Amino acid sequence: MNLFAQHYPEHIQTLNQRVAEIVSREGLAGLIIHSGRPQRQFLDDMDYPFKVNPQFKAWLPIIDNPHCWLLVNGTDKPTLLFYRPVDFWHKVADLPDAFWCDHFNIHVLTNADAVRDFLPKDLEAWSYIGEHVEYALEVGLTSFNPSAVLNYLHFHRTIKTDYELECMREANRIAVTGHLAAKNAFYHGACEFDIQQAYLSAVGQTENEMPYGNIIALNENAAILHYTGLARQNPQHRHSFLIDAGAQFHGYASDITRTYSFEKNLFDELVMQMDNSQRAIIDMMAPNVSYVDLHLACHEQIAQLLLDFKLASGDKQGLIEQKITGAFFPHGLGHMLGLQVHDMGGFLSDDIGTHIASPDAHPFLRCTRTLAANQVLTIEPGLYIIDSLLSELKQDKRQSQVNWDAVALLRDFGGIRIEDNIIVHDTHNENMTRDAGLS
Ligand code: GLY
Ligand code: MN
Ligand code: MN
Repeated sequence: MNLFAQHYPEHIQTLNQRVAEIVSREGLAGLIIHSGRPQRQFLDDMDYPFKVNPQFKAWLPIIDNPHCWLLVNGTDKPTLLFYRPVDFWHKVADLPDAFWCDHFNIHVLTNADAVRDFLPKDLEAWSYIGEHVEYALEVGLTSFNPSAVLNYLHFHRTIKTDYELECMREANRIAVTGHLAAKNAFYHGACEFDIQQAYLSAVGQTENEMPYGNIIALNENAAILHYTGLARQNPQHRHSFLIDAGAQFHGYASDITRTYSFEKNLFDELVMQMDNSQRAIIDMMAPNVSYVDLHLACHEQIAQLLLDFKLASGDKQGLIEQKITGAFFPHGLGHMLGLQVHDMGGFLSDDIGTHIASPDAHPFLRCTRTLAANQVLTIEPGLYIIDSLLSELKQDKRQSQVNWDAVALLRDFGGIRIEDNIIVHDTHNENMTRDAGLS
C-alpha cells in the first residue's frame, strides 16, 4: 500500500471529526459540498479552465470534475455524487477506482440536475459549501457558506494530516524536477518562454494544472513581483534568472523560488548570502513562535545584507524603522500553503474567526498566526531593485543612506527571492524543498 493510501483513513477521520464538531455547534444536519460548475466565457461558447472548490478537494483527490457533490455530517459514511454524463463531445471522467473509494457511498450522476434526487429530505437543515449559490438555491438549499462553518474549517485546516503532508512532499518532489530542468535551460541560453516549456515538460503538468501562474523572469523582469510575461526573445545580455514555480499533487500545492546569476559576480554572492539568511529564518520556526516575529527578524537579515553589500549605511534598526528595508523587500515573509497556494487561515487566531491583522507597517504580510506543529508555510525573503519604491527614498533625507551606485549596478539583475516549503514539527522543521534535492 502506498503512503497516501496508508494515511488516508486517518485523514478522512479527522475531516469527519471536524464536521461533526461544527455541525453540532451550529445546529446543522450536515454540509453539502459542491465541486463546482464550469464558467462560461463572456460572449463565447467556451468555458474558463475549471478550478475545483478547495473545500471539496480537501476530501478526495478529484480536481477536474465539475457537478460533483459531497454530503457529509461527520457521523455517517460520506456520500459522493460523482458526475459522469453520456457525452460524445468531451472525455467523461472514469469511474473512480482508487484508494479513497471505500470511504464513500458513491452514486453516479449522469446529468448535473439529477443532484435533486440524492439530496436529503431535511434539506433546510444542511448548509451548502460552494461557489454557485444561485444554483444551490434552485435545487432547494437555503443556507450558504455560513461564516461560522468556513472560519472553523479554515482555522483547523492549517494543521495538516499525515496524508496531506505526504501529498505536499510529493508536490515538492515534482516541482523540484521542474526547477532543475529550468535552471539547466537558463544556463544553456533559453528564453523565458522556452524555460517555461522545459519546466512544464519536466513536471508533466499543464499550465492550467499549476497551482499559480509561474514566474519565469530573466534580468530586470525579476524585479516585477508577479511577472508572468514569458518573453519569446532572449535579452541581449544574460544576467540573472528568478523562477517562482510550483506543482500540484492530489490537489495540494508546492510554491518554490530560486534565483541564479549567469556569472560569478557580486549578485551571485548576494544570492548566496540571501540563501544563508533564508535558512537562518527557517531555523527560527517552531511551535509557539509568532510568524510576525519571523517577518520582523527577516527585516533584520535584509538590513544586514544592505550593510554588508554596501547598498545602504546606518544601523539595522534605523534601516527598518525608516522603511529602507521595506523598499528593497516590500512583500511578506511567506504564507500558509496547502490546498491553495495562499492557503486560508493565516490571519485567524481561533476557530470562531477572530482576525489578527498584519502590522500597519507590513500590510502585505499574509500570515499573523502563532506557529503550531503540522502547519506548512513558505519562507520567501527577497531583495529587489524596484525603481518606483526606491524613488520614494530619494524624496527625503533617507536618500543619503542609500548607495545609489551600488543600486545601479544591481538594476540589470532585477532581484532575488529564495522560497522553500516548510513543515513545522514539535522537535524540528522539515524543509520539503531542500529534502527533495533543490539546493
Ligand atoms: N508564488 C506566489 C507566492 O510566492 O506567494
Ligand atoms: Mn509563496
Ligand atoms: Mn512563490
